[in-house]
Amino acid sequence: MTLTGDHHGSIGVFDSGIGGLSVANAICGLLPRESLLYVADNAHAPYGARTDAEVLDYSRRITDFLLAAGTKLIVVACNTATSVAIDALRAEYADVPFVGLEPAVKPAADGRHVGVMATAVTLRSARYLDLKARYLNDRPVWEDPCVGLVPLIEVYGTGSPQVERYLQGLLAPAGELDTLVLGCTHYPLIVEDIRGVVGRAVNVIDPSGAAARQVQRLLERRGLLGPAAAIARYDFHCTGGPAPLQRTLWQLPQLNARRRWVVPYLALNED
Ligand code: DGL
Repeated sequence: MTLTGDHHGSIGVFDSGIGGLSVANAICGLLPRESLLYVADNAHAPYGARTDAEVLDYSRRITDFLLAAGTKLIVVACNTATSVAIDALRAEYADVPFVGLEPAVKPAADGRHVGVMATAVTLRSARYLDLKARYLNDRPVWEDPCVGLVPLIEVYGTGSPQVERYLQGLLAPAGELDTLVLGCTHYPLIVEDIRGVVGRAVNVIDPSGAAARQVQRLLERRGLLGPAAAIARYDFHCTGGPAPLQRTLWQLPQLNARRRWVVPYLALNED
C-alpha cells in the first residue's frame, strides 16, 4: 500500500507548514466524517519570503500530488498561496473545487482602528488590495508583514518566550487597535499569545471557521459529502522535518485523535 493510495474521496489541504492545521482543525470539528490528506511544504517555507512565481509553482506541484492521491476538494490553507495562485489553479484544474483563505477584511469593516497581520506576498497582492479598498477604504489600517514570525511559530510555537517577545515588539507600535485580522493561517495557532499582548477587548478575526463552512457548502452543493458510516483518517506529509507537525498535532486533540502518518514526502522538493 502506498501512503496516499487510499485517499480517494478525502479532502486535500496544504500550506507552507503547520499553519493550515488551524483550518484542518476547523474542518475536522465541522465535518468529522471527512478524511484529510495534508501537505506542509516546510522545505520551501516561509512562502511570505518567496516570489509569486515560486509560490505558484509549489502550489501547482502540491495540487498535482493531492489530486493524484484521489482527493475530491482542495483547501489552499494558506493566505499567501491563495493570494497569488488560486485563480491560476481554478483555471487549470477547472473540475476541481478549491477553497482558499484570504484576510477576513469584510468582517473587520465595523472596526475603527483595524490591524492586519499577513505575509509580504499577501499584503502586496491584488486580491488583498482590492478587499482593503472595498471594505476599509475610509480609514488608516495598520498592517505588518511580520517578517520572521512564521519560522518562530514553526520552531517554538504557542506559549514560547520567543513568540511572546516577537509579538510585544511587533504590536507595541500598532497603537490602540479595536480589530485585528489574522491574515496568515499560522497566526490562529498563537491566538492566545496575540490576545495576551493586545488585550481581550480587541476583536481578533480568525477565518478558519468560515473556511470550514465554505468546504461544507461546496461538498453539499456537489453531492460530495462523505458517507454517513465513514470513519475519518488524517495523514500528514511534510517536505522538510516532521517535528513542527508532530508537536502541533499534540496541541490539537481532535485532529490528533484520528491521525495516522506524519511522514516526509521528499519528491515534492525536487527543484
Ligand atoms: N500560513 C501561510 C499563510 O497563510 C504562509 C506563511 C509563510 O509561509 O510565510 O500566509
